[in-house]
Amino acid sequence: MLKRILPSGVAVVESFGDPPEAVLYPEEALLVRNAVEKRRKEFTTVRYCARRALGQLGLPPGPVLPDRWGAPCWPATVVGSLTHCEGYRAAALAYGTDVTMLGIDAEPHAPLPRGTLEAVASPAERMGVRSAPAGTHWDRLLFSAKESVYKAWYPHTGQRLEFEDAEIGFEPAAGTFRARLLVRPEGSGPRSLPSVLRGRWLVRDGLVVTVVAVTPGRQHR
Ligand SMILES: CC(C)(COP(=O)(O)OP(=O)(O)OC[C@H]1O[C@@H](n2cnc3c(N)ncnc32)[C@H](O)[C@@H]1OP(=O)(O)O)[C@@H](O)C(=O)NCCC(=O)NCCS
Repeated sequence: MLKRILPSGVAVVESFGDPPEAVLYPEEALLVRNAVEKRRKEFTTVRYCARRALGQLGLPPGPVLPDRWGAPCWPATVVGSLTHCEGYRAAALAYGTDVTMLGIDAEPHAPLPRGTLEAVASPAERMGVRSAPAGTHWDRLLFSAKESVYKAWYPHTGQRLEFEDAEIGFEPAAGTFRARLLVRPEGSGPRSLPSVLRGRWLVRDGLVVTVVAVTPGRQHR
């Protein structure tokens, strides 16, 4: 499903189960040695997806280790993002020459737990959720869009975002959204960062998926 909403040049591998051939490198296994089975399975399968995506880019497999804030580390020429939720795991990777920022997120297509929307959304975002066409859990979509923004932003800037740092507006008919960044990178962060990130979304088979993929030279107004 992700392939439909990502630009060409992005290698996407999805899994709707946990294949037995998915295995970890010793240094990866160490990181989840005390984790519950559910966590070990999502961690393992999503890395299996990532290695297959690396293969699609013509790159050899290798361990996918997290940085100090959990972001997956890739070969220097590559950008990428991982996601997992109940019944779904996915990896999306691209060469940095094709895509400069990349974030993906998947969630169950169900309402957010009570109180979550109030915790993550601005008044304007909540109004957008309330007035959007019926049939879609816009609160969950909003949450997923923010996660995709975060996953695209952090590896590029080295800065984490709070939920109030990006304001999301949906274009329901187009299946797109705009994320207005309300912060700028500090210190030595990249200088020419867009202040608006554009994203796409899809609801299918009980899942919500969102992506943010910035391609070089694209305008963000
Ligand atoms: C890190 C976070 C974004 C992960 O999203 P999630 O919906 O909980 O979980 P997902 O399964 O979709 O994604 C998990 C994967 O995200 C990736 N990830 C974790 N931290 C990351 C980071 N700082 N940057 C990029 N990717 C990250 C990892 O690959 C992780 O999988 P792994 O631990 O198996 O390697 C989320 O837990 C979080 O901390 N959110 C708070 C910050 C935020 O979203 N702010 C909103 C700003 S507008």
